[in-house]
Amino acid sequence: MITFREIDRKNFFDVIKLSVSEEQNTFVATNLFSIAQAKAYPECICLAIYHDDILVGFTMYCIDIDDNEYWIYRLMIDAKFQSKGYGKAAMEKLIDLIKKDKKHQVIYLSFEPENDVAKHLYEKLGFEADGRVIEGEIVYRLKY
Ligand SMILES: CC(C)(COP(=O)(O)OP(=O)(O)OC[C@H]1O[C@@H](n2cnc3c(N)ncnc32)[C@H](O)[C@@H]1OP(=O)(O)O)[C@@H](O)C(=O)NCCC(=O)NCCS
Repeated sequence: MITFREIDRKNFFDVIKLSVSEEQNTFVATNLFSIAQAKAYPECICLAIYHDDILVGFTMYCIDIDDNEYWIYRLMIDAKFQSKGYGKAAMEKLIDLIKKDKKHQVIYLSFEPENDVAKHLYEKLGFEADGRVIEGEIVYRLKY
């Protein structure tokens, strides 16, 4: 089962060791960068993704200061745990968590145009293009 845990002194060093494959490096920032970013942008919520008791990935989301909407800024599954359904399960869990906030009705995210796996995954979850490209990344949204 997929669960989320906060990042704290117990898992910090393991979370920053998680990595994607070399070809995927341009698709997502390192977890070290994201956790540092969240210190400066305290609206960002970082979560470690576990499959049972095994740390498999990382995600970061927020209510963006500029548009006051939910954005999933990061999602990564460590290379050795990919293609086992964990990314999809983590996204479903995160979407459910965000959906509890009835004050909002949409979730945004963006991805590099070459990132076919991410595109496929997000479309499968019901996301659709909202027409924007920000810093070269395609913006998708899910209305809930
Ligand atoms: C994108 C990512 C989070 C997906 O996580 P994952 O655990 O590997 O994906 P899942 O096993 O849940 O699979 C999700 C879907 O993608 C497909 N998929 C997974 N790996 C694939 C691969 N290497 N090639 C083609 N399709 C793949 C699965 O078949 C599944 O589709 P389906 O439900 O139609 O069968 C993961 O690949 C990753 O961390 N990539 C690098 C970082 C990144 O790109 N993050 C997203 C930035 S926007």
